[in-house]
Amino acid sequence: SASLLAIALSAGAAKADPNGCDSGETVIKFSHVVADSGHPKGDAARLLAKNINEQMEGKACMEVYPNSTLYDDDKVMEAMLLGDVQLAAPSLSKFEAYTKKLRLYDLPFLFSSIEAANAYMASDDAKALLAAVEPEGYKGLGYITSGLKQFSANKPLLMPEDAAGLKFRVQTSDVAVAMIEALKASAQKLAFKEVYGALQTGVVDGQENSWCNIYTQKFFEVQDGITNTNHQILAYGMITSQEFLDSLDDETREQFLTIVDDTLKQANQQVADQEANCRQQIADAGSTIRELSPEQRKAWVDVMKPVWQQFEGDIGADVIATAAGYDK
Ligand code: LMR
Repeated sequence: SASLLAIALSAGAAKADPNGCDSGETVIKFSHVVADSGHPKGDAARLLAKNINEQMEGKACMEVYPNSTLYDDDKVMEAMLLGDVQLAAPSLSKFEAYTKKLRLYDLPFLFSSIEAANAYMASDDAKALLAAVEPEGYKGLGYITSGLKQFSANKPLLMPEDAAGLKFRVQTSDVAVAMIEALKASAQKLAFKEVYGALQTGVVDGQENSWCNIYTQKFFEVQDGITNTNHQILAYGMITSQEFLDSLDDETREQFLTIVDDTLKQANQQVADQEANCRQQIADAGSTIRELSPEQRKAWVDVMKPVWQQFEGDIGADVIATAAGYDK
């Protein structure tokens, strides 16, 4: 009867889950490799899911798969073109197979603060740079900042010579390899989920990452200490596939893109505080954090910054100059 149908429909509506996917909604899966919470990307992903699930109820819903539970960063790019995942935010260091323009972000000492990186990444120039992924079928939706990277090893690092002869885990980035080799150290590319084990078993001696990755992955537990080198920015390219965007009707697509844009702006403003908090937690856990004197810092800059020249042709001297201009 009509009244039974009405009861059934309202019961269905009451059961609708604002935090998950109901039948009939377009499912947006976001796969990433970091901690679910207490991390700039994990927190940004959850905030985005909340906003999409609240504001697009009945039309679309988002599910977050953190911690490499669905895909690692190599696999996620393939899975996206197959339509198995709709959102990902790999580190900008991991786009080399798709474009060499984004090597910009790996240049050591390009940005000395999260604020400078955020300012550049909010610019039209940076947005245009992200379009370099489009010929491969991806669409760059914006940047998520994560923090500045710090070196750690199984011995104290104060001068670049302290790193000589050690083996460091790096992301799949030739700029990172060149930077490590400039230290007369060796680089090993490893997936993020393998880093803790590699440090623990001595497959590598050291690593470089943000405070929140070092904290949430517990790298500090298997290292001598962390040196506050701030030598590189860690940031992500939020991507989807063009095919997924084309599958949405105009109104849904506009709403989705607006929510993504607003959420990323909000998330990026919190990164500096989140990173300070992760650093504090590492200190509270009893790990040694070493500060560099101005002379020591200069020594690291002098050894690593020359790698810019090797990659200038891939990136473009004008692009480098514009980005570096934000580091005031
Ligand atoms: C790494 O592999 O170290 C990072 O890209 C992990 C991440 O996503 O922050």
